[in-house]
Amino acid sequence: MGGWQLYGLSDGRGLNKVDAKAIPLQAYLGPLGMPGVTAWWGLNKIIAPKAGETVLVTAATGAVGSVVGQLAKLAGARAVGVAGGAEKCIYATETLGYDACVDHKSARFAEELKAAAGPRIDGVFENVGGEPFLQALRRLNDFARIAVCGLIASYEGPTTPLPDMRIFLVRRIKIEGFIASDHPDAWPQALAELAGHVAAGRLRWRETVRQGLESAPQALVDLLHGGNFGKMLVKLV
Ligand SMILES: NC(=O)c1ccc[n+]([C@@H]2O[C@H](COP(=O)([O-])OP(=O)(O)OC[C@H]3O[C@@H](n4cnc5c(N)ncnc54)[C@H](OP(=O)(O)O)[C@@H]3O)[C@@H](O)[C@H]2O)c1
Repeated sequence: MGGWQLYGLSDGRGLNKVDAKAIPLQAYLGPLGMPGVTAWWGLNKIIAPKAGETVLVTAATGAVGSVVGQLAKLAGARAVGVAGGAEKCIYATETLGYDACVDHKSARFAEELKAAAGPRIDGVFENVGGEPFLQALRRLNDFARIAVCGLIASYEGPTTPLPDMRIFLVRRIKIEGFIASDHPDAWPQALAELAGHVAAGRLRWRETVRQGLESAPQALVDLLHGGNFGKMLVKLV
């Protein structure tokens, strides 16, 4: 939050002391930092999956999504991911433990999502918006919960309009947007649980690292187009 710069001045506010002995320092920018807490809040506080329910996660292998999928599995839910390309989908199922993953670039995306989602979807952790979200709406179960975390497909593209509102009434859907920084009181519990999962080897993650501050603008542009595989990081020095 100190800005994209090599040096910054702080009185300590907004900084956290971290222990880098057991865990790589940059994990505190990923599963043990803001993305991890974002995943934890949206999944536990909004979707609150029960064992056996199906949770759909878009941007399933990204910094937030990869944690959501693994927490959903730990909660006993069925996790279905949406990711861009075969390599990310293989990683989702073979490394992150998703039960299925659908490539949103596939020409048969709608059919493949229908097959992967099973009868109905109980929770949607929405990171993307756009076509994956609209297809997910068609497959919702009664009393499904939608956590609107991000709409990355709309950050520089067309907005995601809501279709016929009847779906929300007929299926009694809860839809809630959230920002992780609105819930500072929850961070200690979230981080403690996430650290426990990391220490026990239950949480996997990967990262894409770009070198040098000068690479930051392109790193951001690439993030918007799926050019990252896991948490996008810029190593300053
Ligand atoms: N609410 C909050 O408090 C909060 C906090 C942090 C992040 N967020 C949001 O959470 C989302 C994920 O953030 P992150 O940092 O973890 O990023 P990320 O998932 O690591 O990276 C973004 C991913 O989004 C996917 N994507 C981008 N454009 C897309 C498109 N047009 N259609 C489909 N997929 C697309 C790409 O994955 P594929 O290659 O798999 O398509 C890309 O790798 C973002 O929307 C972000 O704004 C919200």
